[in-house]
Amino acid sequence: MNWTKAAIYTVVLAIVGPFLVDHLYPAWLMIVNHPKLLPEISEFEDYKIKFADQIRNCEDVVLDEKRGTAILSCDPGRDKWNTVMGTFIDPSWSGALWYYNYPKFAFHEEGAIHRMEISGMDPEAWMKFHPLGIGYWSSNRTLYVANHSPLGPTIEVFKVNKQVTCVVHERTISHDLLNTPNSIIPISDHEIYITNDHKWEVKEHRQMATLETYLSFPGGSVVYMNLHTNETFKVASLPFANGIAVINGTVLAVASTTTPSVNIYAIDLETKNITRTQKISVPFWVDNLSVDSNGILLIAGHPWAPAVTKVSKTNHLYQLGEGQEEGLPMEQRPKAPSWVAEWDGNAKGELRNLYVGKEYGTSTTAVRDVGRNIGIVVGLYEKGIMLFKSKPRLAKKNGQRGLWPSGKESVFD
Ligand SMILES: *[C@@H]1O[C@H](CO)[C@@H](O)[C@H](O)[C@H]1NC(C)=O
Ligand SMILES: *[C@@H]1O[C@H](CO)[C@@H](O)[C@H](O)[C@H]1NC(C)=O
Ligand SMILES: *[C@@H]1O[C@H](CO)[C@@H](O)[C@H](O)[C@H]1NC(C)=O
Ligand SMILES: *[C@@H]1O[C@H](CO)[C@@H](O)[C@H](O)[C@H]1NC(C)=O
Ligand SMILES: *[C@@H]1O[C@H](CO)[C@@H](O)[C@H](O)[C@H]1NC(C)=O
Repeated sequence: MNWTKAAIYTVVLAIVGPFLVDHLYPAWLMIVNHPKLLPEISEFEDYKIKFADQIRNCEDVVLDEKRGTAILSCDPGRDKWNTVMGTFIDPSWSGALWYYNYPKFAFHEEGAIHRMEISGMDPEAWMKFHPLGIGYWSSNRTLYVANHSPLGPTIEVFKVNKQVTCVVHERTISHDLLNTPNSIIPISDHEIYITNDHKWEVKEHRQMATLETYLSFPGGSVVYMNLHTNETFKVASLPFANGIAVINGTVLAVASTTTPSVNIYAIDLETKNITRTQKISVPFWVDNLSVDSNGILLIAGHPWAPAVTKVSKTNHLYQLGEGQEEGLPMEQRPKAPSWVAEWDGNAKGELRNLYVGKEYGTSTTAVRDVGRNIGIVVGLYEKGIMLFKSKPRLAKKNGQRGLWPSGKESVFD
């Protein structure tokens, strides 16, 4: 090959390469992750499914580790109303926030999960509350909730009481740059980053949104918002931006579901702009991210996208329980497997699988309280929550990460 030819190949590859990677990789995953080939993995020391008769369809969970309380965003109405997946049968069954005080020995105790009382919200808005991602700033107990209301997408800001049992509505935010808000992460007591999963909303532009998803078009975005000045601007565009988490004060992780990857960005603390420093390919359609107090990123998602689509389209036909007593028997319900992994950016940066399986399906978010060694996985179309205990890890040479040391404060404090 002569020099010019090599140069042309290089240029062509440089242009087409990323496109091929972004499109061939998911195509390859469609084959290797087929439910018939998918291995069952559990690297948890133990796990159990709890509260299956009380809650369903939880998209997100955040922990208040100081108090040992989990706040969950669950929407039993999602079976008939999902603005991300494009289900628009009936929006009238609304979602809610729940809290669960998990004691240190939560694993051996019954425990109880309760609905959080919401006050100060306009009754009409409250009736149409469809919570998706939630973000929590624990030091002043501010809770941000992405709300996919049929009246239009908003971010609802709540104050959580000291006991973490109820919330008072403070403010509703809507903005042109928040057209498909999905996940929210606070970076200070008055600043948040929000992801928008699409440029086109499924409800208004079904074809464009579908094309955007299938072509991995970078129409999703990350938006910065300052709640004191109301300054709002876009800091990044990427395909199907989904979960968002802060690894430490200056490092942000954003999931791109359709490429499937986790993108790592450096935050410029002066301008709040972000610059991508790394892209980690993940062997499943990444949904949400969280960071534990050791700085380890927990990644949850879906091994096989068609299975989730099928569940989202058919779930409403089954006897799901509260609000849906009629229907086909639950045993016949299709299930979509889950995949949960973790990534330690400080170590070699390998991905470690924690759970792959169907027993608890459609995993969207995994969180872990390091001190109590209790974790929770929630599933978009699943009944109950999955409680897990991690295996102890061998101490590292530098002694930084031993057997789940307790103590280190959460990055959110
Ligand atoms: C994902 O998790 C993060 C923090 O763990 C949260 O801030 C975000 O809102 C979540 N998003 C969704 C869609 O669950
Ligand atoms: C706490 O939260 C609110 C958002 O409701 C924010 O505007 C406020 O400045 C925060 N900080 C303090 C110290 O109150
Ligand atoms: C920000 O927006 C809110 C509600 O839209 C408004 O009440 C507030 O005065 C605004 N603040 C500033 C500094 O513009
Ligand atoms: C955050 O993580 C980055 C990359 O691992 C590191 O360079 C930086 O020093 C960390 N910052 C803090 C405040 O820990
Ligand atoms: C940061 O983002 C803002 C708003 O998008 C833009 O005006 C500014 O030029 C950016 N700054 C840098 C240093 O890139």
